[in-house]
Amino acid sequence: MTTLRLGPGDLAQAAAILRRGGLVAFPTETVYGLGADATDARAVAGVFAAKGRPADNPLIVHLADAAALGEVAEGGSPLAALWPGPLTLVLRRRPRGVCDLATAGLATVAVRVPDHALARALIAAAGCPVAAPSANRSGRPSPTTAAAVLEDLDGAIDAVLDGGPTDVGVESTVVDATEDPPRVLRLGGLPLEALRRLAPDIAVGGDARRSPGTRYRHYAPRAPVVLAPGEAVAGLLAADPRAAALVTDETAARLPAGRGGVARLGPLADAAAHARRLFEALRSLDRGQPSVIVAEILPEAGLDRAVMDRLRRAAQ
Ligand code: TXA
Ligand code: MG
Repeated sequence: MTTLRLGPGDLAQAAAILRRGGLVAFPTETVYGLGADATDARAVAGVFAAKGRPADNPLIVHLADAAALGEVAEGGSPLAALWPGPLTLVLRRRPRGVCDLATAGLATVAVRVPDHALARALIAAAGCPVAAPSANRSGRPSPTTAAAVLEDLDGAIDAVLDGGPTDVGVESTVVDATEDPPRVLRLGGLPLEALRRLAPDIAVGGDARRSPGTRYRHYAPRAPVVLAPGEAVAGLLAADPRAAALVTDETAARLPAGRGGVARLGPLADAAAHARRLFEALRSLDRGQPSVIVAEILPEAGLDRAVMDRLRRAAQ
């Protein structure tokens, strides 16, 4: 199939494609999602096929407004006060709210209201809950631009709605709100510190059974990734001219001037910049076909926690 390139002015066309069971990649504040009508089993099957995604890994259902939550889930969570935003809540599923395939047959459903005007306008115009995993081939870095979507999925989906580069850059934080206290299943764009303000006793990690996505290799460029402290990067690059590096500006300043294969994440103190640049940097380094990508180890705080989580999985 030919993948249509659409812009914000083509919103009605994108919504019509979703309504008739097609696949449309669209921007959110985190990463681009690959959208399908969550109530349409055939459309949702198309999402799994286009991504090459294992059928036991459920999708996030996107709503235009938290007021629609009752259509797909039973009960709620005080954490829904943080919507719209980069937060996904796992709740008890409402029978027949979305198709079984979207939730991989689980009794729960993952829901999110994105903080992105174009995304919410698209969902509202489609008039249905929109199932949308990140719009990458399964296992690859998530796309933060329409070009990155096309790099993985051109010809495999109906359309991409180009809304420019995404702002947050890493996927949403996933929280299981069926437990008390709630449990973070995936670190992401909403920092743990912000969640703790509303839920001081929130648990983190632990149960891979409840978080199907964490079982798979993820976020991986084609080149192998190794993690190293900033001080060690110069030595590793000197030892291997084909090695590439993903580093903070401070570490980049200590590398030989003019050394190719270096991508900058921004100043050490700017975790939001690290998150915003991470996936595009991995993709661009990969295009140079390096022998290895040496990624600088960042402090485990704020958004850097999510960045380090992605880098660790990429290095697995
Ligand atoms: O920011 C994001 O979350 C992006 C944008 C497009 O919204 N979406 C995204 O979707 O990252 P995806 O499919 O790449 O990741 C969804 C994660 C997976 O780890 C999946 O296992 C988990 O959410 N998940 C989905 N439904 C679940 C459920 N019922 N219980 C537990 N985990 C669930
Ligand atoms: Mg994904």
